[in-house]
Parts: sequence; C-alpha cells; structure tokens
Amino acid sequence: MKIHIDLKKTEDNSYDIIIGSRILNRIPEILKKENPADNYIIITDSNIKEIYGKDLLNNIKNNNLQTTLISFEAGEQSKNINTVKEILSEMLKNNFDRDSLILALGGGVVGDIAGFVASVYKRGIRYIQIPTSLIAQVDSSIGGKTGINTRYGKNLLGTFYQPEKVIIDTSTLKTLPKQEFINGLSEVIKHALIKDKDFFNFLEKNINTILSLNNGALEHIIKRSCEIKKEIIEKDEKEKHCRKMLNLGHTIGHSLESASSYKLPHGSAVSIGLLAEAKISGELGLLKQAEIKQIKSLLETCRLPTTIPEFINLKLIIKNTSYDKKAVKGEPYYVLLEKIGKAKIGVKVPDKIISKVMEELK
Ligand SMILES: NC(=O)c1ccc[n+]([C@@H]2O[C@H](COP(=O)([O-])OP(=O)(O)OC[C@H]3O[C@@H](n4cnc5c(N)ncnc54)[C@H](O)[C@@H]3O)[C@@H](O)[C@H]2O)c1
Ligand SMILES: [Zn+2]
Repeated sequence: MKIHIDLKKTEDNSYDIIIGSRILNRIPEILKKENPADNYIIITDSNIKEIYGKDLLNNIKNNNLQTTLISFEAGEQSKNINTVKEILSEMLKNNFDRDSLILALGGGVVGDIAGFVASVYKRGIRYIQIPTSLIAQVDSSIGGKTGINTRYGKNLLGTFYQPEKVIIDTSTLKTLPKQEFINGLSEVIKHALIKDKDFFNFLEKNINTILSLNNGALEHIIKRSCEIKKEIIEKDEKEKHCRKMLNLGHTIGHSLESASSYKLPHGSAVSIGLLAEAKISGELGLLKQAEIKQIKSLLETCRLPTTIPEFINLKLIIKNTSYDKKAVKGEPYYVLLEKIGKAKIGVKVPDKIISKVMEELK
C-alpha cells in the first residue's frame, strides 16, 4: 500500500527593497500601512540599540503600535546558538504570538541572527530587514540566508527564510566606523567581479568619492549591488546552482575567519579571500595576471587587507576549507574567475595550489 503526499506548490516569497536617505523616520508609517502586525519586536545589538534602536522603539510606540526591543552584545562572537536561545526565551516568556513581526535593525550579525530566530519561532514568523552596515545594505539583508557560527565553522547552522521587506537608510552609514565601511566594500567588489565589469571600472574610478560617503555614490553602489544579487537569487533562491557564485572569496574567507577565531572581520577575510581565489584562478589558467593585479590594486586602494595576518595558521586554513558548506565529501568546490565580471562555479582545486597561493599571501 502506498499513500502519496502531494506537496508540489509554487511559493511567492517576493518582496521590495526600499533605498533612501533618512527613511528610518518613515518606518512607523510604512508598518501601519504595509506591514500590520499585532506586535513588533526590534532585534538589535548593543551599539545600534543606543544609536538608532531606542529612537525607533519610541517612534513606533508613539504611533500606538505594540513594540519591544531585544538586544545582544555587538560582534561576530555573539553569532551563536546561545544568543539565539536567549532571544527565543525572551520572546517565549513574553508569549508573543504568531502575528508578531521582527524588525532586524543592525549589521549582518543582527540580520543573520534575527532572520534565524524569525524562521524558527513558533515555526516561523514574519520579519523585516533594516540593515545599518554597508555589508548588510549591499549583501546580507537580501536573499533570505540566515545563520549562526559553530566551533566547526561559519554559518554552518541556518535557514533560507526571506524577509517581507528590506528598508535601507543610507544615512545610517554616517555613524558606521570607517573600518566597518571599508570591510563592506569587499562585498561590493565581489558583486562587480562576478557579474559586472563596468561596475568594477566605476569602483576603480570613484573610490575616493565613495570613501568620502558621497550620497549619490553610496546610493549607486548599494543599488547596483542589490540589483546584481537580486538577479542571481531570482534564478536560484536556494543555492542549487548559480547562487553559489555569490560565495566568491568566501571559501578561503570563511576558513580565515574561523582560523582566526573570528577576530578577523568578515569583510577583511573576504578581501583576502577574493585575492586568494583570483590567484587560484590564475594558477589554473583561467584568469589573466593583469586582471589579478587590477583586483589587488582596487582592494588596496580601498585600504582592504591583501595579506594573511601572521597570527593565522596557514595549515588550519586549508583544513577549514573541508568544513565549507559547498564541500562534497569533505572536498571544497571553489567559485573562480574567468575574467573580471565572469565567475565559474564548482571548481575542484588541488591542495598544493592552495598551499602555494597561501604562501604567496603571507
Ligand atoms: N546572510 C547573508 O547572506 C550574509 C552575507 C554577507 C555577510 N553575512 C554576515 O554578516 C556578518 C558581517 O556583517 P557586519 O560587518 O555588518 O557585522 P556586524 O553586524 O557585527 O556590524 C559590524 C559592527 O558595526 C556596528 N554597526 C553596524 N551598523 C552601524 C551603524 N550604522 N553605526 C554604527 N555602528 C554600526 C555593529 O554594532 C558592529 O559593531 C558576518 O557574520 C557575515 O557572515 C551574511
Ligand atoms: Zn560575505
């Protein structure tokens, strides 16, 4: 006897990304009109709570909407199961029902944790991303990947869970520490490298304007990054094929982060990872030396790191790549570059090439 459960369905996980300067103030009005809920829960970190969290909480409350704020200690070290447990306990203690909506206010760490919490609380509640760091505005708030780190590696626990809206207020970048802004540029460069040579040339020509936080330049790099990511995730939401491209620089990058016990910031690790993977592409005859030089030079002009810090053990980096999420039977598959603006997924790379490149980046 056989009973068939037919669950074929087309899901609609579509949503809008709203980009503008000083739009945090408009959030209560947007929520009332477009995202009504019984109850709003702002999840944020200890830094953002002070700079934007308390104001947002009061603004929403003043509009007679039920709102609470939950915060945790800022930093990558908090992106773990304990923080998730604490937030979930607080929500359960308050008995928030399924018509609650989470507002993830902060950088990529807040977004990844709050999205994860939203996806498991009472089997899933709605959430909105309100990214405040450059990494979060150009990358992590879009695409619905949520995750936490474990001692075995980065983002090894997580879900695909799309937000119902992303609200990007570019003026929040004014309070972001300069080094955090620079870290975010590595994800912008990543987007240009995998999909858009013209965008790469724009970055080369306008880097000083971007570093001076010129609003027009900021809106352009954020918009273009969101568009590139949108194009890819619309084709492959769950990373079965082309979405893997977005991991350029991340196989080595994540291994570096993990080998540094998360002392090396994500964006810095991705910068070194981008150069490492460009060099690996060169070793395999895919990418021209002149283009590798161009990539190194752009990373350097942005003041991003291009060498591996001394305190990181090179052997550990290679060992860590086998825990990469894209690894099959412990063998990592790399995203490499054929040229600036064109990536190639699923490439196996011999360990001795990785070791050679790691030695060169010392
Ligand atoms: N889910 C995804 O698709 C995805 C994509 C890229 C990165 N990520 C994840 O994102 C994380 C990195 O993100 P991040 O660099 O934003 O880290 P983060 O959230 O730790 O933010 C960096 C620091 O900047 C502070 N900050 C953020 N916005 C600020 C503002 N406007 N003013 C003042 N201070 C501000 C934070 O409090 C923190 O101290 C990593 O964990 C990475 O794995 C996820
Ligand atoms: Zn990243």
